[in-house]
Amino acid sequence: MIIDKDLYERIRKKREELDGLRPFPKSVLERLRKQFAIELAYNSNAIEGNTLTLRETRLVIEEGITIKGKPLREHFEAINHQKAFEFLESLPKKTALTEQVIKDIHKPIMRGIDDEYAGRYRDVNVRILGAVKSPPRFEKIPVKMREYVKYVKRNPDKLNPIELSAIIHYRLVEIHPFTDGNGRCARLLMNLFLMRQGCPVTMVLKVDRKKYYDRLRKADKGDLKPFVDFIGRNVERSLDLYLDTFKRGSEYISLAEAAEGSPYSQEYLSLLARKGRLESIKLGRNWFVKKEAIKRYIKSKKK
Ligand SMILES: Nc1ncnc2c1ncn2[C@@H]1O[C@H](COP(=O)(O)OP(=O)(O)O)[C@@H](O)[C@H]1O
Ligand SMILES: [Mg+2]
Repeated sequence: MIIDKDLYERIRKKREELDGLRPFPKSVLERLRKQFAIELAYNSNAIEGNTLTLRETRLVIEEGITIKGKPLREHFEAINHQKAFEFLESLPKKTALTEQVIKDIHKPIMRGIDDEYAGRYRDVNVRILGAVKSPPRFEKIPVKMREYVKYVKRNPDKLNPIELSAIIHYRLVEIHPFTDGNGRCARLLMNLFLMRQGCPVTMVLKVDRKKYYDRLRKADKGDLKPFVDFIGRNVERSLDLYLDTFKRGSEYISLAEAAEGSPYSQEYLSLLARKGRLESIKLGRNWFVKKEAIKRYIKSKKK
């Protein structure tokens, strides 16, 4: 086993625990998924140099707003990432990993930015900024990619699902089949595999860029463990966030739902949430509360 044993054991248990909480309340799940998609777009794009903030990324994706002073390309990248993510979600669960699927993920990422190379393997040699090792010469890509897809399908090293997802990411950026957008494509592909095993969206955070590059360099030298563990910890963080939201007896509900069984209107609850007088969380643009929190608030008012 490559991944840290304790870490893997914790992930396994948390996944089981999360499974036990299904079905999730629809409104909260929807909001959480949207939130994660936007956070993934923000982090994945920021890692490759996009300067939009999380808030700006949301505005561009959800409202189609143009951010003053930010290049058109960065707007495209935000929207494109969302499109690519929606494509992932639209894939039937049993779709096998083929080179075409990888190209189909890459295509929307580069649309309007480099249409010539969107969804097409490179026919030039490239270097990776910040890497020591050079990716293979372009003539080798077709063979390398054929081997890559075969490896993932057969899983000859008997990797567990978390390890395999991390290796799917690493091997793709190692081959670097595209002129640009390899990192974003690899992070999405990794998520395709994670989501299929019931894991929430997993992000490499912008703030972890240095660590991420360091772990990739170690992998280049043949030591895959630091990268696999790094991805594993990110999987665990996403699981924690989901568990926190969905744990039994502490489900978050929308303010509309909360208002129904309480003496307050949705508008009033929203005011309380915004003022911080009611324990609540904001997902996207909407507030969510736990039933318990409403009860506590009512009690406190009676006193
Ligand atoms: N030392 C390395 N070895 C392998 N891959 C690396 C290394 N350093 C960085 N990378 C990968 O290369 C990506 C950058 O390649 P690029 O094609 O520009 O993708 P993107 O534009 O999506 O960031 C990084 O996001 C990372 O995944
Ligand atoms: Mg790039």
